[in-house]
Parts: sequence; C-alpha cells; structure tokens
Amino acid sequence: MKVVFASSEIYPFAKTGGLADISGSLPKEIAKKGIKVFGFMPLYKTVDIEKHKIKPINVYIDVFLNGRTYTFEVYKLIDNVIFFFLKNDELFGRDYLYGTPEGDYPDNDVRFGAFSYAVMEFIKKEELDPDIIHVNDWQTSLIPVLTYYKYNWHHVRTVLTIHNLAYQGIFDKFAIERLNLGWDLFHMEALEFYDKVNFLKGGIVFSSAITTVSPTYAKEILKPEYGFGLDGLLRKYENKLYGIINGIDYNVWNPETDKYIYENYCEYTIEKKSINKKLFLKETNLEGEEKPLFIFIGRLAQQKGIDLIKDSIEELSKLPINLAILGSGDKEYNDFFESIKGKYENIFIKVGYDEPFSRKMYAAGDFLLMPSLFEPCGLNQMIAMRYATLVVARKTGGLNDTVVDISQPDGYGILFENPNKYEFLNAINRAIDLYNNKQKFLELQKRVMGFDFSIESTAQKYIKLYESLKYSREVVL
Ligand code: ADP
Ligand code: GLC
Repeated sequence: MKVVFASSEIYPFAKTGGLADISGSLPKEIAKKGIKVFGFMPLYKTVDIEKHKIKPINVYIDVFLNGRTYTFEVYKLIDNVIFFFLKNDELFGRDYLYGTPEGDYPDNDVRFGAFSYAVMEFIKKEELDPDIIHVNDWQTSLIPVLTYYKYNWHHVRTVLTIHNLAYQGIFDKFAIERLNLGWDLFHMEALEFYDKVNFLKGGIVFSSAITTVSPTYAKEILKPEYGFGLDGLLRKYENKLYGIINGIDYNVWNPETDKYIYENYCEYTIEKKSINKKLFLKETNLEGEEKPLFIFIGRLAQQKGIDLIKDSIEELSKLPINLAILGSGDKEYNDFFESIKGKYENIFIKVGYDEPFSRKMYAAGDFLLMPSLFEPCGLNQMIAMRYATLVVARKTGGLNDTVVDISQPDGYGILFENPNKYEFLNAINRAIDLYNNKQKFLELQKRVMGFDFSIESTAQKYIKLYESLKYSREVVL
C-alpha cells in the first residue's frame, strides 16, 4: 500500500503545535509497519535545510493559479518516510507559517491552494500512484476536492484528519476564481459557507473518510457548542467520521534519555524527579520545594482556557503552590502575561516558544494544568504523564479520553466539568490535597509513567482505516 501524507507542519522541520508532532510521528510509525509513505509539506523559510540535510532534487512543478504561474522547487529527505518539501519563496519564504501575532496572512488561500495543487501535480508527474492520500486540517483540505473534482482520481481514497475544528480556512468567495475551482462548487453542499469559501468544508464533503483526534471530540463536534458552524454538516457525514486518539513518540519524549532536563529518571529512579524540581525552582527564582509545582505549557489562545488562569491569578498567587507558565500566542494574552511578570513571588512566567525549557518543566512539575475550553486531543497531558507529572484538566475532548479523575476507581488525575473559576480553583485545591497525601501521590506518579499513549497504537488504527478504504471493507477500528 502507498500513502501520501500532506500536512502544513511536520516536526522537527516546522511546528506551531500538536499538528506538527503528529505529522512527524504518525507517518513514520505507519511506514515502520511496511507501508510506503510519502510526506509533503511547504518548504518555509524557517526550515533548517542544512541541519536536516534536506536537498533539492532538480524537479520543478508549475501551478497555474490566480491568473499566473507559481513554480515550486522540490526538495527531498529520505528517512523511513520519503519527505518532499515544496519551495516557493514568494508564498512560503516568510517569518511565520500562517500569519503574524496580529493576524493571518491575507493570501493564505493562494498559499495553501497552490501548495495543494503542487502536491497533486507532483504525484502525477512522478507517478507516485498512491492508494490513500491523507490530509490534515484546512491547509491541505483542498486536496480531496482536487482529487475527485479536478483530477478525477476516483480509484484513490482520501482521509481528512481534523485536528482542530476552530480553524477552517475561510476566505471571500472569489477564492473560487483565484483557485480555478469553478463556481459549481460554490453551493451549500460543497465549499460555500455563509457566502464565503470554506476549505475545511470542502475536505469534509469530498474525503472518503474523516478522522478526528479523539473519540470524545468526534462526538462533541456533532453538537453546536463545539461545531463552529459545521456540526450540521458533520452530522450529515457522521457515517464516515471516526475518532482516533493521538499518541506521542516515546523516543522523543522520554525522561530517561531527554538531553534537556537537569537529571534523567525512570519509574525505578523516580526520586530523581525531585532534583529536576529543585533546580528548576532555582532557575526560575521560585521558592518552596515542599509546595506543589503546577505548570502550564501551550499556545496562549482562548481554546486553552487562558481566561480561567487570567481571571484566577490573584487567587492562585495566594495558594500554597508554585506556578510556572510557558506560552505564546494571541497578542492580548502575550501582553497580559508580560505585564504581570515578576508581580507574584510564586508565579513564574515565560512568554515565548521554547522546547528545551518546556522539557525542563515537564520534568520538574507535580501537576500540569490544562483548563481547555475544548481540546481535540491534547498531547501535553500525555507528555506530562510520561514525565510523572499528574494532570489537572477540564473534562473535554482528548483530555476526557486520557485522564480519569481520582474519584473514579483507578483514577489518576483531576478533572473538572464546567469552565468557571469556581470549579477551576476547586480542582486545584483537590490537587493540593492529593499532593499532600504523599504515598498516594507517589503511587500515581509511578502509574502514569507506565501508561502507553504511544503513537504505535494510533498508527495501527490508521492502517486499519486505510485498508478498509482500499479494499472497500466496513471500517472496524
Ligand atoms: P495544540 O496543538 O492545540 O497547540 P497539543 O497539546 O496538541 O496542543 O500540542 C502542543 C505541543 O506544542 C506540545 O508538544 C507542547 O509541548 C508544545 N508547546 C506548546 N506551546 C509551547 C511553548 N510555548 N514552548 C514549547 N513547546 C510548546
Ligand atoms: C490540534 C489540537 C490538539 C491536538 C493537535 C494534534 O492543534 O488543538 O488538541 O492534540 O491538534 O492532533
């Protein structure tokens, strides 16, 4: 079986969030099972081609769009997956992937539309002949539309994975003309969305199967509260929608071998985790090793429940805890956290994106905070547990599928239901109580470290899905 896997970000080449992590680990894991996988992404200016040994292969792809030609130069990296990077500096030679902190680039339709056409043209030119084309989020959602509507490859099956329904790729209606799509696609059953063009909608309608990144999120997005206007459409296509939980790459996230943490440890040497805490507190000028250390790592976006942290900051500063926050995102939140830096002696803040520092935090923390308003899957909680950091989270999406509250038999985390300050602070107080029960806390730390949230089981489910699509069998995951 041959699979084309297209994504707008792939770790370690370019990353803004969990999409990159999965787009890095999943294709590799699928390839390990003997499937031939070709990965595609745009070659952004920020990709370090020297470091990753990405080389041009002297192949050029012309795409006719927007009344002119865009030429992509193809670069390649051979791993167990063969990665192709499509280079057009006018479209992708920019400082950011999708836009500046002030907002999205206005020509994102042409950028990702042109990339999608270039992937199709390359597949054709090089006769890759895939059985499956797997695309991710709105940026590559036009590919299933092109597969069936423009290229008529009816023998090819397409899979769209929705990592986050909040981002849909919505553009003014003349995107239809800019992208040579034809006005016959501009209706409610195809790309039209309130008189605009919606890329993700195209992917939902045209793909052979849709997956989203956790079973709970697959149910949530059928409801108006989580559907961002597409719940009706998703209900219509419910019979081809599957929830497959993500996993993490245990070679990348391993406290036993992690080069960036202060002291390596595993289940049998868990006491060394406290060295990480001690040195982290020192580095960040926090005091009180005996107090639980809460950490927050993530995009500063409304989705992540930042307002709950923001609105509770005074209360948090008075609790017998330390709190370390690492994140960057929307300007409003960046500015807020910058403005309170150093104001509270038990709260450390770092606004920015810093993977080595995030690793130190995972290793040092007692609890990870994830008060997300919605969370399609969430990888942080899986990483945290791998580092023996317990999770305090809102009961939604993938958090609900990976964390069980301690009030339940065999529970090992703290969940709260409603995103209000009262329930949030109550959850933190429950965590403090749990922390003070030293024996139970240690037992849970050891337990969560041993869990298997590996990408391997995720890959097996995707392979089953590909096979059932290829051989037109009923999908049993
Ligand atoms: P999302 O994709 O919604 O941002 P996920 O939980 O799926 O959330 O994935 C987030 C990934 O990005 C994790 O690997 C997390 O450690 C990382 N991350 C997020 N923000 C930062 C940051 N400021 N610095 C370092 N790593 C970060
Ligand atoms: C999205 C979601 C996150 C998920 C990630 C990878 O960015 O917000 O919950 O883990 O994609 O699928």
